[in-house]
Amino acid sequence: MSMVELDHDLDLAELRELVGEIAAEPDRWLPLVRPDAVERHFEQLVRDDHVDVWVISWANGNDTGFHDHDVSRGAVAVVEGELVEERLVVGGAPRVLRHRAGETFDFDASHVHRMHQDAAVPAVSIHAYSPPLWRMGTYVVEPDGTLRRQSISYAEELRPVEAAA
Ligand SMILES: [Fe+2]
Repeated sequence: MSMVELDHDLDLAELRELVGEIAAEPDRWLPLVRPDAVERHFEQLVRDDHVDVWVISWANGNDTGFHDHDVSRGAVAVVEGELVEERLVVGGAPRVLRHRAGETFDFDASHVHRMHQDAAVPAVSIHAYSPPLWRMGTYVVEPDGTLRRQSISYAEELRPVEAAA
């Protein structure tokens, strides 16, 4: 898939194909990796009318907290290390999925998930979103169990949101 030919928003299969292609070309993403990052570090590789692509470096303990991607669907290729994805389940424990280097996964815009890194070895992942990420939602659980969504810009740092005491 050539980036210059994109004239439509990508579906999940196209997003997976795109991150897979980029993952297979380390020359494109390796210069954007921060192996010594302490905080989750993200660099934008592509942004046009239909897709944005990010290279994200993860250190041990980095955690996005539960969030959604508003109207964007996405795909992720893990290229180094391992990431843990949790999908929010009402009335039960989150569904935990481990994604290792060489694996690709996707999610549509209705998904609420959290990504974190629990290994000693840094992880690197390639993320593509279509339509391009603009707003996201982050979630906080109040002390009484009420779930509350906060709308944030894609440019803001995702992190676990603390419940107001
Ligand atoms: Fe996400």
